[in-house]
Amino acid sequence: KMGFAVAEEARDRGADVTLVTGPVSLADPAGVKVVRIDSALQLRDAVVGAAEAADIVVMTAAVADYRAAEQSTEKQAKVAGNVTIHLTPNPDILAELGRNKGKRVLVGFAMETHAGVERAAGKAQRKNADFILLNYPTREGTAFGGDDNQVTLVRADGSYEDWPRTTKREVARKLLDEALGMSLTVKDGQRLRLNAIGQRFHARCSTAFEELRAAAAEVERSKNPNNLYVSGLPSLMNKWLGPLIYEWQHEHDDLDIYLD
Ligand code: C5P
Repeated sequence: KMGFAVAEEARDRGADVTLVTGPVSLADPAGVKVVRIDSALQLRDAVVGAAEAADIVVMTAAVADYRAAEQSTEKQAKVAGNVTIHLTPNPDILAELGRNKGKRVLVGFAMETHAGVERAAGKAQRKNADFILLNYPTREGTAFGGDDNQVTLVRADGSYEDWPRTTKREVARKLLDEALGMSLTVKDGQRLRLNAIGQRFHARCSTAFEELRAAAAEVERSKNPNNLYVSGLPSLMNKWLGPLIYEWQHEHDDLDIYLD
């Protein structure tokens, strides 16, 4: 459910989304490319393939650390006494993506029973993830099965934020705000400036505004030539777009933009 929420939120913000999912009862979300897998090995291939062209990779899956070393297509007869099953480690997909990170923002999830922040920060560092959303199986109303989640954002540098318990969709929203904040900007001395991904978003956003302005102009001109009311674009209200709109408005100082 958490992965589906992230996919739907990213789609609604205009991203091209690939959702890789195991066998769950949830229906394919519209407007998202869905890849169904049955094993950790298939998951690895699907994720590594999709990650190549991705700006942001979010790994919500609780992948098993081990799988049965041998598989049988035939039924095994019962034997007397205990049985030993040999397990072999699964590939750590997040760590593999971390070794080949490029400019991607990598986000992981982790479930811990104790020393959560410390362990999650260590995990983010080891796996070269930008941040990890941590939750505790012992807390009520977290993660498995439900529609709500209560997580702590833990960055690789050890800084963290406790987020209140809320819907998975809201967690997805905040997760993408954080990831986009990291992926849109680079530090240039004291200044933050847009990186290549940020510039692409900026271009898209400016074009959308130009179109809206042209459409709105005819209606609005007679009433108030300097105001443009923009509605129905909820993603533009997100904090990561705020600075872009601000910057854009400065380039068009004849216009006041109101968002709702
Ligand atoms: O299992 P662990 O707590 O280390 O998982 C942390 C992160 O690593 C999660 O985002 C999970 O999706 C990812 N992971 C993975 N491949 C594994 C195990 C975990 O990508 N075999």
